[in-house]
Amino acid sequence: MTSADKTTDERHLRVPRYSGSARINHWTVAATFVLLTLSGLALYLPSLYFLTGLFGGGQNTRAIHPWLGCLLVLAFAGLFVRFFSQNLPESTDLTWLSRAGKVIDPDGEKFLPEVGKYNAGQKIVFWSQAVLITILLITGLALWQQGLPYIESVLGFQLSLETRRWAAVIHATAATLSIVVWIVHVYSAIWVRGTMPAMVEGSVSGGWSWKHHRRWLRNKVAEGDIEHTGSRNPAE
Ligand code: HEM
Repeated sequence: MTSADKTTDERHLRVPRYSGSARINHWTVAATFVLLTLSGLALYLPSLYFLTGLFGGGQNTRAIHPWLGCLLVLAFAGLFVRFFSQNLPESTDLTWLSRAGKVIDPDGEKFLPEVGKYNAGQKIVFWSQAVLITILLITGLALWQQGLPYIESVLGFQLSLETRRWAAVIHATAATLSIVVWIVHVYSAIWVRGTMPAMVEGSVSGGWSWKHHRRWLRNKVAEGDIEHTGSRNPAE
């Protein structure tokens, strides 16, 4: 697409995708996740211990990491409530997944079912992060030196050393999987051109919506929820 085409497209149709508060919510999750990854890897891998310098040394990194975890859980809970209903599975998701290889082909999406706000791949990212963050919360609480005595007093029993060792193994495994899912998420957001403005500006072009989320666009048009400033063809 030339810059002239892009300008024409942008003038013709902008489709609102995220409100300002949803974007602040998302970028809080993203920033917290990056800080957790850096501080978690610094504590886990001796070769990356130097990263503790970013947080004011080893002691501070160890103290800050669990609080960042609490912030991530609260912020992700906000995203979960906002996006939950549009990530519910549908029968067309299976068809989409079985033909997902076509997405790599520039013209391949015409072989896929029309997609609502999120495709099946995005739904998998959403649900896997929801499950992994829940596991990270539970196992993280079990490993929290400062917070655990309070948690144990609420529970009314003490966790055994063996339980806490298992918590450490599960915490590291869930964190690794969550980082892998995050890399896939960021790669897709960059690779599918025109996706980043959704979370940066809050809107996407009509062409992007028509190509990748046609059923969602049809609903937006039916609701009259688009900024239409030119052409009547949503494919432009
Ligand atoms: C730091 C790098 C990140 C970037 C560049 C990024 C980018 C984006 C973009 C562009 C979208 C809009 C996609 C669309 O509307 O089709 C999005 C949506 C979303 N992002 Fe991120 N993101 C990042 C980190 C994260 C993290 C760490 C999480 C969660 C742990 C996350 C969870 C979500 C969710 C739940 C959505 C909505 C899509 C859905 O519900 O399926 N993002 N992101």
